[in-house]
Order: sequence, then C-alpha cells, then structure tokens
Amino acid sequence: MKKILLLSLISLTLYSCAEKKKEPIPTREEEQSIDKKWWKEAIVYQIYPRSFQDTDGDGVGDLQGIINRLDYVKDLGVTAVWLNPIYSSPNDDNGYDVSDYRNIMSDFGTMQDFDTMLSEMHARDIKLVMDIVVNHSSDEHPWFKESRSSRDNPYRDYYHWWPAEKGAPPYRYSLFDAEGNAWKYDEKTDAYYLHYFSQKQPDLNWENPKVRQEVYDIMTFWAEKGVDGFRLDAFQFAAKDTTFPEFPEGFEKNFIQYYAMQDGLHEYLKEMNEQVLSKYDVMSVAEGAGRTLEEAHELVDADRKEINMAYAFDGVDIPKVDGYKLSTFKETFSKWDSAFADKGWISIFLSNHDQARMVSRYANDSLPYRAPSAKMLNTFILTMRGTPYCYFGDELGMTNNPKLQNIEDYQDIAAINGYKKAKSQDEDMEAFMRNLRFGSRDHGRTPMQWDASENAGFTTGNPWLPLNPNYAEINTQAEEADENSVLNHFKKLTALRKNADALIYGDYELLIPEHPQVYAYTRSLGDEQFLIVLNFSQEQTSVELEGLSSFSELKINNYSNLKKTAKTLSLAPYQAVILAKS
Ligand code: GLC
Repeated sequence: MKKILLLSLISLTLYSCAEKKKEPIPTREEEQSIDKKWWKEAIVYQIYPRSFQDTDGDGVGDLQGIINRLDYVKDLGVTAVWLNPIYSSPNDDNGYDVSDYRNIMSDFGTMQDFDTMLSEMHARDIKLVMDIVVNHSSDEHPWFKESRSSRDNPYRDYYHWWPAEKGAPPYRYSLFDAEGNAWKYDEKTDAYYLHYFSQKQPDLNWENPKVRQEVYDIMTFWAEKGVDGFRLDAFQFAAKDTTFPEFPEGFEKNFIQYYAMQDGLHEYLKEMNEQVLSKYDVMSVAEGAGRTLEEAHELVDADRKEINMAYAFDGVDIPKVDGYKLSTFKETFSKWDSAFADKGWISIFLSNHDQARMVSRYANDSLPYRAPSAKMLNTFILTMRGTPYCYFGDELGMTNNPKLQNIEDYQDIAAINGYKKAKSQDEDMEAFMRNLRFGSRDHGRTPMQWDASENAGFTTGNPWLPLNPNYAEINTQAEEADENSVLNHFKKLTALRKNADALIYGDYELLIPEHPQVYAYTRSLGDEQFLIVLNFSQEQTSVELEGLSSFSELKINNYSNLKKTAKTLSLAPYQAVILAKS
C-alpha cells in the first residue's frame, strides 16, 4: 500500500504554472463578490442532431425528435443544450459546410420546428447554444458560387483566391483533403481557393469587413430568435497570414502555430462582441484556445470583451491507442485550472462529436468495468471548475461501436479521406485502422440508444450509422429502471452540482499528485468543501489522505459501499466518491 500524504503545498512542486499562490479559501462575504454568471453555472448537454432521434423514418435524427425528447433532457438535470449545426448543408461534413445560415437543413425539419424546439426548451428552462460555422462555408453557399464565377465578382474577396499566373500557391495542409493540399484549383477563373478542411469547405476571408458584417448579421438573426449562446466552430483558424508565406518543412505537425490565432483574431472577436455578444445575454465559446495558456486567457479575459470561455483540446488529446498516463491527465487539467483560477473561465469535457466515446478512450468499456468507469468519468466532468459539457450518450456510458471495423463502415470525411491519403503515402494501413477503430469521430456519432427495440428506438428506417449492438443492454429505458445505472448516477451528479456553489465556483486543489492510479482533489468555497476521489484503474487500491476524517458525509459513490478509516480510503476498480465536510 502506498502511503501518500495530503500536503497542502503539493501543487507548488508539480507544475510549471506552480507560481500560482495558494489562496485562502474565500469566505462567505468574499463569495458574494464572485462573478456569478448563468453560463458558469450551466451544465451543457451536447446533442448531435443527426444521431439523437429520428421521427420521419429517414434514418437521420431531426428537430422533431429533439422536441420529443426534451423531457428526458430536462430530467438529466442539464441546463443548456449545445446543438451541432442544423443549417442547410450538402453534408460533406455533416452540417459543418453551411449553404444557408438562415435556414434549417431539410433532413432536420423546418424553421417552424426550430421555433417550436426553442420555445419548448425555454419552457423547461433549458438554454440553447448554436454552433456558428464561419471559418468556412459550403462551396454551395451562394457567396461561393458568386465568388468563383468571375475574378471581378463582388463576392470574390469573400474567400481566399490565388491566381494561377502567380504559379502554384505555397503549400498549405488541409485537415480533410484526400491529397492533403488546402489549395484547390478552380478552372472557371484559373485560380486556386483555400480550404483548410474539405474541398467543399472554402475558407471565408475574415479580412474583408463585408464578410464579418454578414456573420454578425447572421448571429443577430439567431440572437433575435432568442438563442442563448454561440459556439464558434474552428474559429482560431479565421485569422490567417494572407500574405501566404512559405512555411518551414514539417510545419503541418505543429500547424496551429502557423495557421491559427494570427493577427486580427482578437480584433474580430472584439468587434463581434461589440456588435452582437454584448447586446444579448448570450454565452460564447470558441472551439480551440490557441497555442498557450496565455493565448487562451486573452480570448476570455472579461476585461478584453471578447468571448466567455475557452474550449481547449489538451484534455481530449491525451488518450492514445496504447493508453495514457494518469499523471499526464492530472497535470493537464490542473494546469488549465490554475491558469484560470483568478480570471477567465474554461470548459470541461472528455468527448464531443469529434472524438470517439469517452469510456472507450479514457477508461474501460468491457465488462464488468464499463459502468463504474463511465460513472467515474462523469463524476470527474461534473466536479471540476469550469462549465461541464456532457456529450449525448455518455450519460448512459455508450461505447465505441465494434461494427466500425473496415474503412467501408465509416462515414466521416476525415476518416475516408484520411484513409485515401495514408494509402497514397504508403503508410502502415494496419496502424491507421487501429487508430481509427480507437479514435474515429464516427464512434461518437452512432445513434442514441433509447430502448431495446429494433434500432434502439432511434429510427424506424435505416440508421445512417449502425447502432452499437450493445443497445440491448445500454439504453435509456433499461437504465431509467435500474437505480444503479450510469444514467441515474449522472442525474445524482447534476443534482449535486446545481446545489453546490463550491463545485461551480470553488477553489480546486490537487491532492496526492504522484499517485499513479488515483486522482483526488478538493473543491472549496467558504465553509462548503468537497473531496473527490477517483480510481482511474481497474486495480483495487487505497490512498491515505490527511484530513480525511473531516469529510464525513458521503455524497456520491459509484459502488454500494466504501471502505474508509480516519485516514484511508480503499477503492474498488474505478471507484469514484464525493465526500463533503459536514
Ligand atoms: C470543427 C468541428 C468539426 C468540423 C470542423 C470543420 O472542428 O467540431 O466537426 O469537422 O470544425 O468545420
């Protein structure tokens, strides 16, 4: 048994950000001065509309399906929904290629459905956060059709063009292109256009004030409808060096440094804030948070009047096909917490539509560990400082889908074109497929598992991605009926968080940083204090924690018992507990 002490100054020894002074816990009076905001208190539930609930039998989810399931969403205890794009789109990248920002994708329904959905959400006190995809549009957007039609078209400068007479443009890496090049030659005007993502997602030219005005008008249109927030997709890429210099060889490995967060980004966000965000009580979060903590800070420092919260990828980048170290996980999340302890705000998440299922990546999706480890991960997300984002299906402990075996089983453009590219470059295709089976975005997109009937109650038609065969056991109906299910555990967590300011605003302190299996921390605000202890391994283990005896109230436990003495906790595989000072 490892003897590990709770040392109050331990965080000082661990991180490069260790300059963080250990602040005294705020008193109740000081607490009054905490900058409280609804979006800091929100528990966000992310719905991937394609995969949530189909009502018209076309195998694709729709807005009516979301409306039908709002009582379920409310019952989860979440307070806001982030909806992936629902605008008109040819669906090259499942809605992240928008052809009309003021219309609803026909697969999903109509504007009337949208209005009903929004009012039904508000009737249940659920806020709605829209995805705004404006680093690029679809090539089928009228702006791009105009832009590509002639060199002197008024929309030409809405996008980035490189005339062919200047020779081949300097190589740019494309995230989704089968050939890997972000410049696509367009015969009509004998020029290349830029697309950081797929060929059907041309990048908008943010240096053009008209483009920016179009975006603010679009956001105003939705804000006027009453939406409560915006998630700015891929926004760090909006500001580019449009002199298009040659980049050094191998730059793609660290391309964010060259591609994103260039001069102009802060100006754009300030302008957006002035024109739209400041006029409504909306939350704002931009995907990606730059290269450094400082850059992330600058985005969300309230005094700078840009956006509300950072959404950084360091946490989701941790798991690898051959595992990861808990120490990296602890360091990453502690580092982000300490950098935002005094100012600014972050998002906490372990999955989204661009990741495979969290229980398969961070924990253990095989029996008997799936349920306790999914509960353990949800306990983490819902007890950290920062706004928690819970991805649909994770409240059930949904897993990666074993039906996604061969490349033909995948739908995601990133997977399909990534495969073609790897093949053309003679890469190790077995390794490629291993990575895909572990981490493909499609794993996170297989349909919601509602019940044990055919296609899990998701559709009466042919689902656009195969249901995970485990839906017979893992589904909302079964989990609602089982008081020990991952789902019911999730509901206990949201109920606790909503009524405990310390879990929202309280200080975070990492304990036993060196412990290889256990992540333990406290959250404290005034006299309210919680101790969270998470066993990230499938081994039984025990930890010795000084001061443990004062945490006498067991609030949450994913097992039916807890072995606890005055100083020691013995933890079962993936056991997760929340104790409170009473
Ligand atoms: C963001 C989205 C992702 C999309 C990409 C291009 O990263 O989260 O799903 O493919 O932007 O829009």
